[in-house]
Amino acid sequence: RSIKSLTTSPSSHVLRRGYASEAVPDRKVAVLGAAGGIGQPLSLLMKLNPLVSNLALYDIANTPGVAADVSHINTRSEVVGYASDAELGKALEGADVVIIPAGVPRKPGMTRDDLFNINAGIVKGLCEAIAKYCPKALVNMISNPVNSTVPIASEVFKKAGTYDPKRLFGVTTLDVVRAKTFYAGKAKVPVAEVNVPVVGGHAGITILPLFSQATPKANLSNEEITALTKRTQDGGTEVVEAKAGKGSATLSMAYAGAIFADACLKGLNGVPDVVECSFVESTVTELPFFASKVRIGKNGVEEVLGLGALSDYEREGLEKLKPELKSSIEKGIKFASQ
Ligand code: NAD
Ligand code: LMR
Repeated sequence: RSIKSLTTSPSSHVLRRGYASEAVPDRKVAVLGAAGGIGQPLSLLMKLNPLVSNLALYDIANTPGVAADVSHINTRSEVVGYASDAELGKALEGADVVIIPAGVPRKPGMTRDDLFNINAGIVKGLCEAIAKYCPKALVNMISNPVNSTVPIASEVFKKAGTYDPKRLFGVTTLDVVRAKTFYAGKAKVPVAEVNVPVVGGHAGITILPLFSQATPKANLSNEEITALTKRTQDGGTEVVEAKAGKGSATLSMAYAGAIFADACLKGLNGVPDVVECSFVESTVTELPFFASKVRIGKNGVEEVLGLGALSDYEREGLEKLKPELKSSIEKGIKFASQ
């Protein structure tokens, strides 16, 4: 892999300011579903990321316009659009990180699981191509229902003989982003300083924010913690209802997806102590997949961190979420192994 010295590369001011005396390796990022509601702003944010040298934008509709548009931005990465199934292999070849926001979003009244019938097939097809063209890439799964699409991906990779649990991530960063925002508002602390782990899965009660571990500490009542927990669990539905039939979270999700992909790139580049919450293969509970804090390094998941001390309320939430999460995981595995 070539290493570009930033003093000689035609990099942006952002790149030079952040990494003046270091060498930044070339990194290819592929976005699958790049012309969608999430895909477009996420592609923009990845174009702004100085760690990216090549940006492959793939979608089955409207790719040329999005790729042409993003490609005019004067930052480091070269942008190429790939517009059809026949071009998917080229989009994936050499990718270090593959981000998947392809699939249909919810409308009011739907659960994430209602998306399974359409999105399971989309994700399966894309993962078969990943197994073929970039089996070593870190896969960032955004498509819902994440509690099932991640197990689907694992089964597809197992069948292809390429599965490495260190390289498969369900993106739950939006739950963390929401928990931080809502906590900062309630606790009246600066949002930029807030940290809140969110564990479990990515749907309704399977989303378990651990406000007892939130920092900076605040003296919130049990009622306030319950309300914050519920708001975090229903954050996606809050946006779906506000958009009234025009889709689900796209802008906040693009932000969250860009944060998570950046963490993966930093991990690959050897930056120490990169920790994010993610839905990964896990032994933290008896369930085979679970979201918790994960240390990301040169090979992907370096360490799945434990849950830490839980309050009684959180322990109760943990037990309550297990049956739903277990059945969503099993549904995904069953679909992919058929
Ligand atoms: P969207 O409909 O606006 O965009 C989806 C895009 O995927 C479209 O451009 C479509 O052409 C494309 N697509 C469909 N099939 C494809 C295929 N086989 N290959 C490549 N591209 C394909 O939807 P959106 O609002 O961007 O949401 C996308 C997905 O992300 C949904 O499933 C949604 O539920 C999920 N989502 C997840 C989170 C999370 O926190 N993980 C947050 C928000 C949304
Ligand atoms: C979210 O949390 O915003 C996403 O999972 C989209 C949704 O359907 O809620």
